[in-house]
Amino acid sequence: MINMIIDGKNVTAPKDTMLLEAIRGAGISVPTLCAHESVSRSGACRLCVVEIKKGNRTRIVTSCLYGVEEGLIVNTKSDRVKNVRRLVMELLLARCPESDLLQKMAKEMGIEAQPRFTPDTDKGTCILCRSCVRVCEEVVGVSAIGLFARGSRKTVGTPFMEQSDACIGCGACVYVCPTNHIVMTSTGEKRKIWGRNFKMQACSKCGKFFAPVDQLKFISKKTGTSMEDLAVCTECR
Ligand code: SF4
Ligand code: FES
Repeated sequence: MINMIIDGKNVTAPKDTMLLEAIRGAGISVPTLCAHESVSRSGACRLCVVEIKKGNRTRIVTSCLYGVEEGLIVNTKSDRVKNVRRLVMELLLARCPESDLLQKMAKEMGIEAQPRFTPDTDKGTCILCRSCVRVCEEVVGVSAIGLFARGSRKTVGTPFMEQSDACIGCGACVYVCPTNHIVMTSTGEKRKIWGRNFKMQACSKCGKFFAPVDQLKFISKKTGTSMEDLAVCTECR
């Protein structure tokens, strides 16, 4: 086990733990947006910053990417940490001023004054954290979406923003998106996501529509399970 002092408390954590988990394990909350348990860490949002002290040196680190170390002294609420987090949040809010989640988090951090940065009005609620891209690539394994264009025009979507043949309509991207940016509508036998309509499979036992046919075909191809066996919803299995 690794011994550390976090916000004045003695904390132990198994080696190979990330600092964020050790901090949370000690009952201390740290704001995060991009650290979803289903995808690898990207360090994209930078909200999880904390201050660490090793010897006489202190520095700011991204706690979701920093591994625990013996003897580390961690401060999650120093003025330096608060200032960096504040700046990060103000930049995120400037990109996505309409995001309810960001507004709520900013309020909790005491950011209510006039924004320092000119708000964008055309970016929706995407903070470009890449969690959707990662889950599509790492977990689902189809890589149907990505980040395209550069600089302030960077955006997430399917290649050329056209309907993607690779997409199987599973909705994993919706599940991991922290800001609810991705729109998926389901109306019984149809689901629409990333501009494409997907036919839904009805459960062969209860008749409930439960998954896109394309997703089941993908699973069938990958696992060798017959479509007939896959056409039963989880409740009826
Ligand atoms: S759509 Fe959501 S998950 Fe994807 S990059 Fe934007 S904020 Fe992150
Ligand atoms: S949660 Fe650590 S960078 Fe986003």
